[in-house]
Amino acid sequence: MEQLISIRNMFKDYPIGLGKFTALKDINLDFEAGEFSGIVGPSGSGKTTLLNIIGSLDVQSKGEVKVMGREVSELTRKEAARLRSEHIGFIFQTYNLLPVYTVFENVEFPLLLMDVKPGIRKEMVDKAIEWVGLKDKRKSRPAQLSGGECQRVAIARAIVKEPQIVLADEPTANLDAENSHHILRTMVELNEKLKTTFIFSTHDAKVIEYLRRKITLVDGRVVEDN
Ligand SMILES: Nc1ncnc2c1ncn2[C@@H]1O[C@H](COP(=O)(O)OP(=O)(O)OP(=O)(O)O)[C@@H](O)[C@H]1O
Ligand SMILES: [Mg+2]
Repeated sequence: MEQLISIRNMFKDYPIGLGKFTALKDINLDFEAGEFSGIVGPSGSGKTTLLNIIGSLDVQSKGEVKVMGREVSELTRKEAARLRSEHIGFIFQTYNLLPVYTVFENVEFPLLLMDVKPGIRKEMVDKAIEWVGLKDKRKSRPAQLSGGECQRVAIARAIVKEPQIVLADEPTANLDAENSHHILRTMVELNEKLKTTFIFSTHDAKVIEYLRRKITLVDGRVVEDN
């Protein structure tokens, strides 16, 4: 069977002045459908860079990155946008919520991009908001929410369309223990019910407890995968 995500001899350079900084070095990783995996490693080791490349938000400098059988660096911007919109849910380290939109509208946004019918849309949004425990706040705007609540809105937005792949960059960084466990159990449930593939980046021992696979990055290299 073809791997859902397949990375071969992949490097990522960032230009710095006249030189470059190599943030990812010779990455070789495969992810099967239905994995519940996490990338751990010190700050600056390349976790966000790796998730951004898998999510087609950024492009590698060298090597192969195939997502659902397609080389992401060869996609046009429109094709990459369609891949993300249809199949990938992204939870950003910095949330990226739309400030003038309410909680409900933020979570609804990915479904608008997919032309989901209004009735079904409302049902899906309500379900996702309930999953993350924010029913009472559905009319609030991000500025009226705590950091942890914003994080939960970002999680609801990523899972609302029930995508095949969820890329979650430090999704519990601002959550207390109770909320972290609740969110993680929700994700495990999605993983088991829908075979959603999760790839986290995390420092959080609570998240690591739930992972079935842990990939350790140090200085842009995979040093452990088990
Ligand atoms: N746009 C950029 N230009 C230059 N260097 C960058 C850029 N983005 C990231 N880097 C560098 O690449 C390295 C990896 O960054 P990345 O954000 O992937 O780390 P991380 O493992 O996610 O760290 P953290 O745990 O702090 O979120 C860092 O040294 C960072 O300074
Ligand atoms: Mg990061």
